[in-house]
Amino acid sequence: MSDVLELDSVSVVRGKKTLLDKVDWQVNEGERWVILGPNGAGKTTLLQIAAARLHPSSGKAGILDEILGRTDVFELRPRIGLSSAALATQIPEHENVLNVVVTAAYGVTGRWREGYERDDERRAFRLLNDWGMGPLLNRTFATLSEGERKRVQIARALMTDPELLLLDEPAAGLDLGGREELVHKLGELAKDEAAPAMVLVTHHLEEVPPGFTHAMLLRDGGVVAAGPITEVLTDQHLSETFGLALDVTESGGRYAATARR
Ligand SMILES: Nc1ncnc2c1ncn2[C@@H]1O[C@H](COP(=O)(O)OP(=O)(O)OP(=O)(O)O)[C@@H](O)[C@H]1O
Ligand SMILES: [Mg+2]
Repeated sequence: MSDVLELDSVSVVRGKKTLLDKVDWQVNEGERWVILGPNGAGKTTLLQIAAARLHPSSGKAGILDEILGRTDVFELRPRIGLSSAALATQIPEHENVLNVVVTAAYGVTGRWREGYERDDERRAFRLLNDWGMGPLLNRTFATLSEGERKRVQIARALMTDPELLLLDEPAAGLDLGGREELVHKLGELAKDEAAPAMVLVTHHLEEVPPGFTHAMLLRDGGVVAAGPITEVLTDQHLSETFGLALDVTESGGRYAATARR
């Protein structure tokens, strides 16, 4: 079994719709994956499986050496850091930034214990500083800009020192400067050998951080291509995925795609 993710013919079916269609996928320690595909391709659904927040309708999902359905997800979930739009909407508006991050630790301890409290706060504080949010610790989440919120969410996802980090469209809604800063930070994280295995969902090749090692392309719930990033992010694969003739370019570890004219 792969140490991080081992999906074996995983399908997710809702009514008549097949959200994921027999997906096979292996993620090993140290790998950094990007997932691309059109709206509705099943990217978020796949991330929900990887986050142990959704069970397959059929097939087998191995996550961090546990099998979904045969393990206690409440023990598994704290080992996985997740940042997604859906999770962000669950954050109470009045919650301050430090608490948004520190509460991620509740999943680990299961209850609030003295002693943990100060350690957790120190870790949250350090993570927020790492992500440039130190000065805004006491602000409420509701008052943050989109870029600031994204960085707080990533700090929160890292709070439990996860073995797997899942980021669903972390750069969505950011301006150009904010995007470039985030891509740079994620590139730094990707290069850090101590950092967890990472899976990042995005719509834009420009948002693939340098240092990412693997890519998966999804279309209509099925895998078009998956493997080492240079083999997957090609004109042919991207064109097939998006149903549009595309030219892919790469320069200094950064990718871009434009429609062929
Ligand atoms: N409970 C459900 N019942 C029926 N269809 C669903 C259900 N949940 C999701 N879907 C559909 O499954 C498809 C895949 O959704 P998913 O959110 O995984 O796509 P995505 O690739 O993340 O898309 P986007 O790029 O827009 O975020 C979509 O067409 C969505 O409408
Ligand atoms: Mg999605």
